[in-house]
Amino acid sequence: MTEDLKHSRRDFAKGTLLEDQVPPDPYKLLEEWYQAAVGSGEVDANAMSLSTLDEDGYPVSRIVLMRGLSIEGITFYTNYLSAKGRQLDSNPKAQVQFLWKALERQVRVRGRVERISSAESDQYFASRPRDSQLGAWASPQSQFLASREELEQRLQEQSSRFSGEASIPRPPHWGGFRLVPLDFEFWQGRPNRLHDRLKAFSKDSGTWSWRRLAP
Ligand SMILES: Cc1cc2nc3c(=O)[nH]c(=O)nc-3n(C[C@H](O)[C@H](O)[C@H](O)COP(=O)(O)O)c2cc1C
Repeated sequence: MTEDLKHSRRDFAKGTLLEDQVPPDPYKLLEEWYQAAVGSGEVDANAMSLSTLDEDGYPVSRIVLMRGLSIEGITFYTNYLSAKGRQLDSNPKAQVQFLWKALERQVRVRGRVERISSAESDQYFASRPRDSQLGAWASPQSQFLASREELEQRLQEQSSRFSGEASIPRPPHWGGFRLVPLDFEFWQGRPNRLHDRLKAFSKDSGTWSWRRLAP
C-alpha cells in the first residue's frame, strides 16, 4: 500500500499560465479560474482550505465555502465562537487555498481578515434553508459534545423554540468574514514538473505586480 504512494505519479498537461494570459487584477483571474472549475464539473468548486494560527502558533486548516468574491475580497461564513473564529479574532491573518484537480490548478491567497457587516451577514443568513439556520443556533461549533444525541437534542430545542416563527433571526455568534488579499499565487500544472507559478503582490496604489516563481 505505502509502496504505491512512491510510484503513483502522472504528468500535468491541461493548460499553461503565461504572463500574457493574466489580467492586471488577480481577482479577475481567480474569478475566471473558479468559473472554469465549475464548468469542468468540479464538485464544490468553491471549497477552499482556510489556514489560521492557534494561540501556540501552530497552523490549523479546514475547508470552508467561498460565498463571495469581489474586488473587496473573499467572503465565507462560520461561527464566530468556533476555533477559527477565535483564532481570527486574535490573529486576523489567514491563507485560503483552492485545488481544482480536473484543471490541474491551485490558487493560494493570503491576507488580513475582517468581519463583514451585520447587515451583510443577516442578508446571507436569511437566504439559507431553515434547517441550516436551525443548525447554526444548535451547534456550538468546535466545542466538545458528550454524544451525537446531545447535538440532536440541541437541534430539537431550537426547532421547538422557533416553531411558530416564520423567519429565524441570525444568531449573534454566526456571520461572515472577508479575507482582504495581500498576495495571490496561481499554479498551473505543466509536463515534467516544470509547472507555471505566477504570484501577484499588492502595491500601495491598489495595483498589482506579477512575478514568476520557480516550480
Ligand atoms: C466541503 C466542506 C465545506 C465546509 N464549509 C464550511 C463553511 O462554509 N463554514 C464553516 O464554518 N465550516 C465549513 N465546513 C466545516 C469546517 O471544515 C470545519 O470542520 C468547521 O468549520 C470547524 O472548524 P474549526 O473548529 O477549525 O473552527 C466545511 C467542511 C467541508 C468538508
